[in-house]
Amino acid sequence: MKIEPRTVQKERLPASAPADADPPPTGAYQEGFEARSLAVDLRATSYFTPDWRWIALLVVLIAISVVIGLLEAWPLAILVDSVLTQTPRGDWIHQIFLSRLPDSKIGQVVGLVLIGMALQIIGYAVWMSRMMINYNLNYRGTTRVRYDLFNKFQVLGLTFHRSRPQGDAIYRLSADAFGPWGIMDTVIGTSVAAVTLTVMTAILLSRNVSLTLAAFSVAPFIIWSNWRFGLRIHQRALESKQIDADLTSVIQQAMSRIPLAQAFRRERGEFRIFRGAVRRSVAALLRLNWQEQLYPLARDTVLAVGGAIILGYGGYLVYRDEFVRPIAGGMTIGTLLIFLDYVRKLWDPLKWLTEFIAKVRLFEAAARRVFRILDMPESIVESPASARVLVQPRTLTIDDVAFGYRAGQVVLAGVSAEIRHGQMVAFIGSSGTGKSTLLALMLRFYDPTAGALRLDGIDFREMRIVDVRAHMALVGQESIILPATVAQNIGYGRPAASRADIAEAATRAGAAGFIQELPDGYDTVLAEGGQNLSGGQRQRIAIARALLTKAPFLVLDEPTSALDPQHEKHLVETLRALKSLRTIILVTHRLESVVECDQIFVMHGGRIAERGRHDELLARHGFYSRMQDHSPRPNPSG
Ligand SMILES: Nc1ncnc2c1ncn2[C@@H]1O[C@H](COP(=O)(O)OP(=O)(O)OP(=O)(O)O)[C@@H](O)[C@H]1O
Ligand SMILES: [Mg+2]
Repeated sequence: MKIEPRTVQKERLPASAPADADPPPTGAYQEGFEARSLAVDLRATSYFTPDWRWIALLVVLIAISVVIGLLEAWPLAILVDSVLTQTPRGDWIHQIFLSRLPDSKIGQVVGLVLIGMALQIIGYAVWMSRMMINYNLNYRGTTRVRYDLFNKFQVLGLTFHRSRPQGDAIYRLSADAFGPWGIMDTVIGTSVAAVTLTVMTAILLSRNVSLTLAAFSVAPFIIWSNWRFGLRIHQRALESKQIDADLTSVIQQAMSRIPLAQAFRRERGEFRIFRGAVRRSVAALLRLNWQEQLYPLARDTVLAVGGAIILGYGGYLVYRDEFVRPIAGGMTIGTLLIFLDYVRKLWDPLKWLTEFIAKVRLFEAAARRVFRILDMPESIVESPASARVLVQPRTLTIDDVAFGYRAGQVVLAGVSAEIRHGQMVAFIGSSGTGKSTLLALMLRFYDPTAGALRLDGIDFREMRIVDVRAHMALVGQESIILPATVAQNIGYGRPAASRADIAEAATRAGAAGFIQELPDGYDTVLAEGGQNLSGGQRQRIAIARALLTKAPFLVLDEPTSALDPQHEKHLVETLRALKSLRTIILVTHRLESVVECDQIFVMHGGRIAERGRHDELLARHGFYSRMQDHSPRPNPSG
């Protein structure tokens, strides 16, 4: 089965829309206007239209199985009424069955038995095919939904991802993605139920009106028990699933803070939290189990009562029409058998019809949660006219850039700089002054609210996003380590890199030494988050990852924050050697590493307060020289 992702629906913003059109980052964001049910249903169905041939086949099979289901009781009824009797009373349906059979009684008995058996076997086979097509349709459509959703999550901006827990995305991808199929399935199932019920009622009415009314006297009870239990089971199942998800996240959190719990002797407190979550989960499961067990009890009770009514009243009718005052076309035992079979068969269609609204609502809610994400405007929008730009050394111009994460917030204002190819430049300044934010703009994680960033004069917004990012190799302020081997971690940005290239990048980053001492060297599997490495080792792996790429710009956000002076020196030497090959943009608090930079930008309050080379800035006796006074020196006596 191969399912192609549909093109990610890029909801383009009007040109005038603000760049921060992502939902506000705090708390529950407004999910905006609710699409109408019909619109949601149609959109859900559209995920299954590529499989319309399968749907057509499904409809045919459903029709066959409905007919077989309705015919199943007839061979026995015909046997009783037309074959094993002195006074055959068959009508046209009997004739259809008997016309193909031999005239002898034995031949007819054998024939009817074989027909009955064949109907059952064919019925099961059709049922099985129906189910398999059902599963396939479900998985194919749901896979399309998941592809769309996953791709959308990949392109949604950081503002989105930082504003909501990971569990939310997981839930939407794993559970909510089934919403569209749920709608399809409910609509198909209910239509089949409506048709089945109509045909069944017509057949019963044509046999005996008063007995039909008697049979339908249990319908209110069937509807009531489905309404009462069907809904409750759905609700309890959902509740239990939600509580289970909570339990999982309680366990996850507890495991992640074991070192903290041990250090602060909170083990008992942690256990209490865990115990609470387990108890809630068990209680929810029990509530579900109760409903699940009460439901069959209610069903069997109603069916037993229904059977008794048919047998009692129908039995009386047979007695009256056959023995008291025999009439032609009266009630027969065969017809009674048909009624007994059909009264049980009332259950399923009535269940579908009863639950229709509630089920559709449930699945619509899930589908809505999916579509809301798909419809979310992307904060970074690639213009349809965006040009393909070759990755090569270029000059980066920051032109009067302003930026805020929220409307009204000023993180950067009037920032201008020109960074020419082969330069090594540094952005320094106190914490919270916007250095990391500026680097994020350089990778086009966000667009500036005013001004522009350009590569060789081309505005970022006129380039493809991938091309902008291909120019930049980022070492973020937090070193991200994947649960994979050292080699895979370093090679993440260039999966095809050879082992020799990886080793060379590691050497340049000063990581080769400790990697060789790991049990399996480059093949050592690192723990999630790099828990089995030191902070400085994690950082050097992140640096190696950036060095391995061929990006012309190296963008390093405090790459030496966790390094000792010796490793820091090594890295600075590496960067110096790379100078002129690559453009190096460095953010740092360690002033020793900026001495050799071609340009130093001192940021203050989201602006560039001073700029120049080390000696020029010192001579100014401004921010920079004051920072130098406060900065720790490797050699205080000097
Ligand atoms: N995702 C975000 N949403 C809203 N505000 C943010 C976000 N990230 C950063 N900020 C705010 O923007 C300002 C600049 O943050 P930034 O991370 O750029 O500072 P920085 O200069 O890198 O600081 P540091 O030296 O501590 O790393 C800060 O006031 C911060 O609170
Ligand atoms: Mg920062």
